[in-house]
Amino acid sequence: MSFRLQPAPVARPNRCQLFGPGSNTKLFAKMAASAADVINLDLEDSVAPSDKESARANVIEAIGAHDWGTKVLSVRINGLDTPYWYRDVVDLLEQAGDRLDQIMIPKVGCAADVYAVDALVTAIETAKGRSKAVTFEVIIESAAGLAHVEEIAASSPRLAAMSLGAADFAASMGMQTTGIGGTQDDYYMLAQGGAHHMADPWHWAQAAIVAACRTHGVLPVDGPFGDFSDDEGYRAQSRRSAVLGMVGKWAIHPKQIALANEVFTPSDEKVAEAREILAAMEDAKAAGAGATVYKGRLVDIASIKQAEVVVRQSEMIAGN
Ligand code: COA
Ligand code: MG
Repeated sequence: MSFRLQPAPVARPNRCQLFGPGSNTKLFAKMAASAADVINLDLEDSVAPSDKESARANVIEAIGAHDWGTKVLSVRINGLDTPYWYRDVVDLLEQAGDRLDQIMIPKVGCAADVYAVDALVTAIETAKGRSKAVTFEVIIESAAGLAHVEEIAASSPRLAAMSLGAADFAASMGMQTTGIGGTQDDYYMLAQGGAHHMADPWHWAQAAIVAACRTHGVLPVDGPFGDFSDDEGYRAQSRRSAVLGMVGKWAIHPKQIALANEVFTPSDEKVAEAREILAAMEDAKAAGAGATVYKGRLVDIASIKQAEVVVRQSEMIAGN
């Protein structure tokens, strides 16, 4: 470990973030009753320009009107390149109740974007005497966002989570795809014999986000998967994200919630194995060894840390 220790992110389940347009008030009660860990009421791209003001008012009302339980309640504001965002922040912070937990800032391209929102939020919180400081989450969904991902991850003590937004990211990068996440037909390697081995075009962006997040104590989250009829595609994408270190994924339809919760909750078998590894290493340490054999493979002091990740995640989810 470096002399500079890796800070821990906030200890909360963030397996599924359920989105719903702020213009669709019929969804709010269903979202509140769902099994998602995080709710994202959207003022941005799922809301038509003509509905921006009414959606903002709907969301402010809904924050106080529904029982959101223990969920993290987040509102996605409009991007800093629009005329809407400042009013989103001002009205939310001045008018919404203290149940508001978090603001999601989309299309963040540099640390100064977060700084600007932080300055405005801080001024309003102080002026209004709000008792609870809102946290931030950001979406990395542009070439600039990824190029500056580390400074963004370090941009504000309010920053709790960071998501990859595959659709806007693909557009900004000039990628030839219209799919929102998942397998892309033209992204393959030719295996011997000519079979297509499908590769993962999102992998490098995800890995960059996870590294920036883990360096600065921020939760890395996978964004939307557009084809909500494709459960196996959603599972496959989520499993890859979980293996890479992401803690959860968005749901843009309620049927994706159970899938995310399933993948991002460590299975009983994985937890049992992690505990066995910890026990094997306790025995090894007692015998004065730094390494031992578990099920025919090497485990050593690094294995303790790997196993602890799984056990801690499972305990945190169970304790919630
Ligand atoms: N949250 C909670 N409930 C939802 C929901 C959501 N995001 N989306 C749909 N539902 C409900 C529907 O109201 C319906 O409920 P009912 O059985 O009581 O009638 C049920 O789930 C099935 O919905 P379905 O008919 O399959 O979908 P739809 O055609 O009504 O809506 C979408 C499809 C994609 C338009 C809708 O799911 C949606 O708006 N998703 C969020 C989009 C978003 O926020 N995007 C921004 C982030 S990328
Ligand atoms: Mg987007």
